[in-house]
Amino acid sequence: MPVDFKKFRKDFPVLKRKVNGKTLVYLDSAATSLKPVSVLDAMNGYYMSYTANVARGVHKLAEEATEEYESGREKVASFIGTKPAEVIFTRNTTEALNLLVYSLGFGKLKRGDEVLSTVMEHHSNIVPWQFLKAKGIKLKFVDVNPDGTLKMEQYEKLLTKKTKLVTVTHVSNVLGTINPVSAISKLAHDNDSLLIVDGAQSVPHMPVDVKKLDIDFLAFSGHKMLGPTGIGVLYGKEGLLAKLQPFLGGGDMIKEVGLQKTVYNSLPWKFEAGTPNIAGAIGLGAAVDYLQKVGMKKIRDHDKELTDYTLEKLSDIRGMKIFGPKNYKMRSGVVSFELRGVHPHDIASILNSEGIAIRSGHACAQPLMDRLGVTAVARASFYLYNTRSDIDKLVLGLEKARKVFKLA
Ligand SMILES: Cc1ncc(COP(=O)(O)O)c(C=O)c1O
Repeated sequence: MPVDFKKFRKDFPVLKRKVNGKTLVYLDSAATSLKPVSVLDAMNGYYMSYTANVARGVHKLAEEATEEYESGREKVASFIGTKPAEVIFTRNTTEALNLLVYSLGFGKLKRGDEVLSTVMEHHSNIVPWQFLKAKGIKLKFVDVNPDGTLKMEQYEKLLTKKTKLVTVTHVSNVLGTINPVSAISKLAHDNDSLLIVDGAQSVPHMPVDVKKLDIDFLAFSGHKMLGPTGIGVLYGKEGLLAKLQPFLGGGDMIKEVGLQKTVYNSLPWKFEAGTPNIAGAIGLGAAVDYLQKVGMKKIRDHDKELTDYTLEKLSDIRGMKIFGPKNYKMRSGVVSFELRGVHPHDIASILNSEGIAIRSGHACAQPLMDRLGVTAVARASFYLYNTRSDIDKLVLGLEKARKVFKLA
């Protein structure tokens, strides 16, 4: 049964806002999504009625807080097709990837080993790996085709006996390209390399099952999937996580501490030092509830429908260049573009005067910008609360930009 996505709009209070006298059109969900009332209520519930630290006290409030925090973990685990022991709460995707760079990269790799990545990564999946160069570890990158897909044939050449880790973004935050993670997983594993996937833009938008895709590690952020900021996830296969040294030390991640030696806690707590983002995990659990109620397949279909419509409408605008695959089925709900003669920041600013929020700039993907031959793009991105009418307003805004800049 087709879902009427308009009905979800009432759950997102921010959508009632006026910006510059116009009702807000929010087309920046790839940066961060809006949050439904149920997520805000869940977090408020923790602060209003059972504030306590987790895994420490035996009093009633501590018990409730721990239960809800762990229930957030259980929900996330089942959402990505795994068990709670394999779900580590972090601050965000960036922290999850940094955890891997320290625990796995510095912990397990040797001088001369290689990490194979791609040129379409977000800075958070490039910069931390560069830290490893100090240890004599080499970074290699698979390039992109002009249509915004990965040059898959390069894996054959770039994967060598020295390649210990392969990392790739599931969905590009600029091109919208959905990368063939299953195929990359097979290539990596046939080469005895581990696969690390950046799921920041995929987990919020499509069904992602870590076991079916055979992913060794997956990083994603709560704030891009209707959850709060400050909570993210690192999934890792239990056998692999068990062999890693913790990234941070302190309270909660221990079983027993002596002055010279510590016995670490079991998984996943071994990787969660200090008081965690308790309200964040509870809010993320509520976000997962919301997404599951709508249905991830339906969210994916809605993204496809809006992307198809956007690609069609934007291509009718003169001077428009759209980045990424032409086929909407190969992309997620992200459309980056360039309007000849107008800087992306000017586009964003004119759209802002119409109450429309988009992203402009390098989108934290400067190496990809270089490959695309631009310094910045304008990016519209959608989620389940967007409708065709938002795209129609975007198109009107872009026509206005053309007029302001007197484009022929
Ligand atoms: C593909 C991708 N990876 C990683 C990140 C980093 O996410 P965070 O800032 O939540 O750590 C983003 C954020 O935009 C992203 O789009």
